[in-house]
Amino acid sequence: MVKNMEKIGQFERKIAEEEKIEPKDWMPDKYRSSLIRQISQHAHSEVVGQLPEGNWITRAPTLRRKATLLAKVQDEAGHGLYLYSAAETLNTSREEMWDALLDGSAKYASIFNYPTPTWADVGAIGWLVDGAAIVNQISLCRTSFGPYARAMERICREESFHQRQGFEIMQTLAKGSEEQREMAQDALNRWWWPTLMMFGPHDAHSMHSQQSMKWKIKRQSNDELRQQFIDQTVEQADHIGLTIPDEKLKWNEERGHYDFGEIDWGEFERVLMGHGPCNQSRLQARQKAHEKGAWVREALSVYTAKEKRGDFKIMEREAVNE
Ligand code: 3HC
Repeated sequence: MVKNMEKIGQFERKIAEEEKIEPKDWMPDKYRSSLIRQISQHAHSEVVGQLPEGNWITRAPTLRRKATLLAKVQDEAGHGLYLYSAAETLNTSREEMWDALLDGSAKYASIFNYPTPTWADVGAIGWLVDGAAIVNQISLCRTSFGPYARAMERICREESFHQRQGFEIMQTLAKGSEEQREMAQDALNRWWWPTLMMFGPHDAHSMHSQQSMKWKIKRQSNDELRQQFIDQTVEQADHIGLTIPDEKLKWNEERGHYDFGEIDWGEFERVLMGHGPCNQSRLQARQKAHEKGAWVREALSVYTAKEKRGDFKIMEREAVNE
């Protein structure tokens, strides 16, 4: 009992003194399980997040837009790998995490269950979704778990390119023909509110925030980050002449922030329950990709087993002797 109290005391001292908790350090089981929950969902979001934009790679309007979109979608795959690797340091396995995603029991960001019917959606995702992800992920660079914080630092550097390329697409469309401007406004109208949901429920209804803030897994609350995103994005929309679809949006001098309308939490719950516009197709796409990639995983596992056994050393010697 005393031993356990000492461990808890040491853990809490490290958290209080802003020391990173590393995989080999003792940590409360609930700290570990909350990190596995959040980091695996984050990783799933990166991987599923490739799908909405991926379907525009073959239809990008110019070679430059295609190359930029290819690079962005490829980045997201890498972000997923950093995050799966960070989660694996907590004694969970990639197979366990993937099984949870593929059987539909694991969550990923609700935002990726919306369709991308026009090219402007690629711009809106980069500008708004990656813009929101940056606000959230810059805060997570200070998270108490070392591998997660270090993954965030690398991801944030790439995320800013994602946001800039999206904003440039929207700016180009907004300053283009009337039809292009309407396409950009339509995309903003469809992505604005689901993007605000990315930050999670209001603090009063967030079941994990209080403990996550205590353990410094989270450094700012859902509402604080959402407000930060709104404040910075309204000016960007004004700059390109697009209108945020919220008639209650109004600068509040006293608060020093924008007041905004109520989010449709019923829609949020429906999407989380799997009833969003694209939940099924996203899950089927991931299941199909996983099945199609089985031969690669099998070949790699045979290769690594042979390598472990030293078979390749024999083959190299044989090759040299030939
Ligand atoms: N989508 C899906 N589920 C959500 C959600 C969302 N937007 N917001 C909250 N939830 C879920 C939580 O996972 C939790 O469910 P669970 O208990 O089954 O895990 C429940 O709703 C209650 O929410 P809480 O606020 O209590 O949960 P958290 O404290 O975990 O806060 C979060 C939610 C703010 C999303 C936090 O988990 C977080 O910061 N995660 C890391 C960032 C992340 O995952 N971003 C997703 C987008 S990644 C991305 O956009 C990639 C970019 O490159 C495009």
